[in-house]
Formats: sequence, C-alpha cells, structure tokens
Amino acid sequence: MAREYDDDFVRGLEWMWGEGFLSPGGPAEVAAIIASTPVAGARVLDIGCGIGGVDIVLVADHGAGHVTAIDVEPALLDKARARVEALELGARIDCRLVEPGPLPFDDESFDVVFSKDSLIHVDDKSMIYAEMYRVLRAGGWIAIGDWLGGANAPSDAMRRWLDAVGLTFTLHPLDRVVETVKAAGFESVESVDRNDWYVGEMRHELATMEGGNFTRLVAAIGEDNARRRMESSTLKYEVVRGGELRPAHIRARKPG
Ligand SMILES: C[S@@+](CC[C@H](N)C(=O)[O-])C[C@H]1O[C@@H](n2cnc3c(N)ncnc32)[C@H](O)[C@@H]1O
Repeated sequence: MAREYDDDFVRGLEWMWGEGFLSPGGPAEVAAIIASTPVAGARVLDIGCGIGGVDIVLVADHGAGHVTAIDVEPALLDKARARVEALELGARIDCRLVEPGPLPFDDESFDVVFSKDSLIHVDDKSMIYAEMYRVLRAGGWIAIGDWLGGANAPSDAMRRWLDAVGLTFTLHPLDRVVETVKAAGFESVESVDRNDWYVGEMRHELATMEGGNFTRLVAAIGEDNARRRMESSTLKYEVVRGGELRPAHIRARKPG
C-alpha cells in the first residue's frame, strides 16, 4: 500500500506532539484512554502503533505484560523497533507489520485491545470492532482513542483541511461508533468526547510552530513541509473549534 507517513511528515508530527508520538496528548492522553482498564500484566494488542511511543508508555508507565504493536507501514515499524530496542524492551513489545483488514491473530489472544488515533484510517468500522471482539478473551476490554467526525455534512473548512492533511480518513460521529461497538457484542460501553480538550491543545500545537519555533521547524523539515504543517494545523484548529473533528475515547468489555 502507498506510504502516507513519510519521514518529514513524521518529524513534523513529533515536533508538535513529542518524540515517539504521531498523535496529540502524549503519555497523559494514553493514561486517559486507559482510565480504569486493567492493563497491568495484560496481553495488549495496539492497533496502529506508529513509531512506538504509545507502546513504550503502555509497558513502562502502565505495566502491560506484553504488547503486540501492529501497523501497516514498514518504515514506521522500523522506527518503533529502534525505539523499543534502545530501551531494551524487545521482550515486552513485538512490532509487527500487518495488512489492512481482518486481524491476523487467533480468537481470544488478548486481554486488552488498545488503539490511539489510528482507527480513523479504517473504512470498515464494523469489521474492525468485530475483529477486536474476536481476538479478545471473554471479559477482555477495548480502550480506544480515535478522531471522530461531527454529525453534519463536511463544511468548506473541513473539506480544505482533509485536502491539506493528505491522509485517508473515515470519520464517523460518536453515537454511530457507540452503536457499532454495541453491535459487535461489547457491553459496558463508555465514551468521552474530547473536543473541548483538543481545542485547548490546538493552541499549544500552533505555538510549537510560531515565531522562532517556525525557523527551527524549517531547519528540521524544510520550508515547504513546514508551511504545509502550519497550514494544515491552522485549518485543523478551525474544524476542531467548529466541532467537526472530535477526538473521543471509547471503552467497552467483551462479556465473560
Ligand atoms: C495518527 S497515527 C497514530 C500512531 C500511534 N498510535 C500514535 O498515537 O502515535 C495512525 C497510525 O495508524 C496506522 N494505520 C493506518 N491504517 C491502519 C490499519 N488498517 N491497521 C493498523 N494500523 C493502521 C498508520 O500507519 C499510523 O501509524
């Protein structure tokens, strides 16, 4: 498949969101997604691990027993593996390349399925939540952070942002995702809309690219990429404030 996260793009995202992260919020946001999910000692599947920062947090901060970290982009997995090896966590974190689609794991292989801001790339939400259900043991949990959409047709600003960001996204509104999760068989479904949090976070994100920071970003990824990064985040601020891009957390349990 075509590579969507090239090296300069990855450097730009880490610039805004911190080393090892291709999504906002860092370790605090990982902790908020997990909330009371029993991760300590658990066999965790992370769908869309990117460059591995999240997986290191799951093991080092939350005591996950073993993380199977999957992604569809080989170059991102190389970066994840290098980060994991540098911390000598290779026995606890297995970074694996997968094809988009059904999960290549046996039934009931995991205690927890985690994902942060990656399911936005999956078009068939019913398939992926049904697959999470299948690979979880009875009584296992999903702890998901994702970027969701608003209820209405995309505004002009939203269309311009989607065009500028240049990634393949399928955004469903939260009520639709909750229905999908329930239809897959999960119970105790809880969800948290993080739009207000991300409006505040966006101000910090823009500040990482302003003034002297912009000069340093240009030195890191070149002027064209830096300008694209700034344009994309400026448009994103508009759509987040307008409620059309809504990070959310979803937690649910497989009956057991
Ligand atoms: C926004 S990044 C988030 C990465 C990481 N979770 C983080 O928070 O830093 C989205 C990731 O999802 C991956 N991805 C896209 N489609 C996928 C799929 N079908 N299965 C697994 N990962 C996928 C992308 O390659 C990318 O690494």
